[in-house]
Amino acid sequence: MNCCQPTDPDNKYPSRIAIDGPAASGKSTIAELLADYLKYLYFDTGVMYRAVTLEGLRRFGSVENEEIITQLAEDILIDVLPPSKNDGRKFDVLVNGEDVTQELRTARVNQFVSLVSAYPGVRTAMTVHQRNISKRGKVVMVGRDIGTVVIPDADLKIYLEASLEERARRRYQEEIGAGRAVRYEEVLSSLRGRDEKDSSRLYAPLKPADDAIIIDTEHLSIAEVFEKVKNLLNLSSRI
Ligand code: CDP
Repeated sequence: MNCCQPTDPDNKYPSRIAIDGPAASGKSTIAELLADYLKYLYFDTGVMYRAVTLEGLRRFGSVENEEIITQLAEDILIDVLPPSKNDGRKFDVLVNGEDVTQELRTARVNQFVSLVSAYPGVRTAMTVHQRNISKRGKVVMVGRDIGTVVIPDADLKIYLEASLEERARRRYQEEIGAGRAVRYEEVLSSLRGRDEKDSSRLYAPLKPADDAIIIDTEHLSIAEVFEKVKNLLNLSSRI
């Protein structure tokens, strides 16, 4: 589906690309394909909120204390590096030097990550890192608030959406494919909970930027969504 040649030798394509949307809307898959196609950096900002949540749970057994978790977010060293293992991971995530990649997607992290990501101080700390990375350009950044808060002047903003049921079906297949025993109803209710918390928080809620292009992926295959995204690239190219 994606080509192996660098496709942008003349720097004609948008340099900072923001992809936002709710859980399991296909953001990561499309962003990864796009980054591969353009030879850009793929950066999934969700792993940063997951890393703070995991570390909070490990150190304190709970993430309810906003002050303590905000301090943790300010002190913690999160690194995202090329994959060191061939176990399906797209990158390694290190917290203070320790590889925590496999622990980031547990049910417990899923349960608490939206609470942690609603703390304004946590968001401020994460946003500083994300902006610094975006300044280098040639990046496809994925999250909930990339087009609205992190890179409001991004060169291309895409917002992917699909119904809760369709997204739950996709995430269920993904989990089963990764060998994790889950039930569809559990996945559905976990996504519903995160959607509600992510959309209703006061600071940087999940929503499309006014100038984002919204793609409804409900009845589209990954290849079809990617085709649409490539058309958008051409429409916003500078040559
Ligand atoms: O992969 P999935 O879409 O399920 O989630 P994720 O992108 O790993 O994000 C996990 C959680 O982090 C989300 O439910 C949000 O609460 C939070 N998040 C956020 O608030 N802002 C971002 N830019 C990225 C993630």
